[in-house]
Amino acid sequence: MRVIAVDGPAASGKGTLARRLAQHFGLAHLDTGLLYRAVGWQVRDDIGNSAAAVQAARAFDIDWLRIPELRGEAAGQAASKISAIPQVREALLEFQRSFCRQPLGAVLDGRDIGTVICPEAPAKLFVTASVEVRAGRRHRELQAREIPSIYAEVLQDLIERDARDSQRTAAPMKAADDALLLDTSGLDADQAFDAALSYISPRIS
Ligand code: CDP
Ligand code: CDP
Repeated sequence: MRVIAVDGPAASGKGTLARRLAQHFGLAHLDTGLLYRAVGWQVRDDIGNSAAAVQAARAFDIDWLRIPELRGEAAGQAASKISAIPQVREALLEFQRSFCRQPLGAVLDGRDIGTVICPEAPAKLFVTASVEVRAGRRHRELQAREIPSIYAEVLQDLIERDARDSQRTAAPMKAADDALLLDTSGLDADQAFDAALSYISPRIS
C-alpha cells in the first residue's frame, strides 16, 4: 500500500510537505482540511446549527472545493467548529477512505489520517511547530496574498483552533503511535522535506 499520512496542526507546513511528497513519489494528494472548510463555508451564516452542518456534509459536492474563499481564516474557523460534530466527520469518511485506497497510492494531509482515515498507512508523519512559529508563517502567507493580517489575531486564532481540534471527542488531532514526529520550528520547507524523505523512502517502494 503506497499511502503517506500527514497530520498536524494549522500552519505546521503539512500541506506544503504533502504536496512535495506527492510530486516526488508520483502519488495523488488530498488536503482533507478543504472538505471541512467547504462544509463550514456552506453554513457560515448559521454556524451554531449542527443539523444544517450535518445536512451540508451529507450533500458534500466535490465542486465546492473550488470556492476561492476556502483558503481564508474565516473558512478555517468555520471548519474547526463543524469538524467537531461526529455526524459531519462520518459523512466525509467514505470519500477520504476511497481516496486513500486508490490503487496507485496517495498522500492525505489533515488531523486524523494516521489514526482514523488510514491507520494502515505504511508511512505516517505528525508535523508540528511552536504556535508562535506557525502564527508567523500564516501571517506572512496572508500578507504575501495581500490579505490584511495582524500577527496577534492570527496567533489567537491558532490557539483557539488547536484547543478545539485536540480536545474534541470525535477524532481529536493527535499523533498516531507509529507516526514520525517532525518538529519544523527550526526547519525551512526544504529541510523538512529532506527529513521526511529519509523516514518515508524505505517504507514506500
Ligand atoms: O490549513 P490549516 O492547517 O489551517 O487548516 P486545515 O487543515 O485546512 O483544517 C481546517 C480545520 O478543519 C481544522 O482546524 C480542523 O478542525 C478541521 N480538520 C479536521 O477536523 N480533520 C481533518 N482531517 C482536517 C481538518
Ligand atoms: O498545511 P499547513 O496549514 O500545515 O501549512 P502550509 O500551508 O503547508 O504552510 C504554511 C507556510 O509555512 C507556507 O507558507 C510554507 O512555505 C511555510 N513553511 C513550511 O511549509 N515548512 C517549513 N518547514 C517552514 C515554513
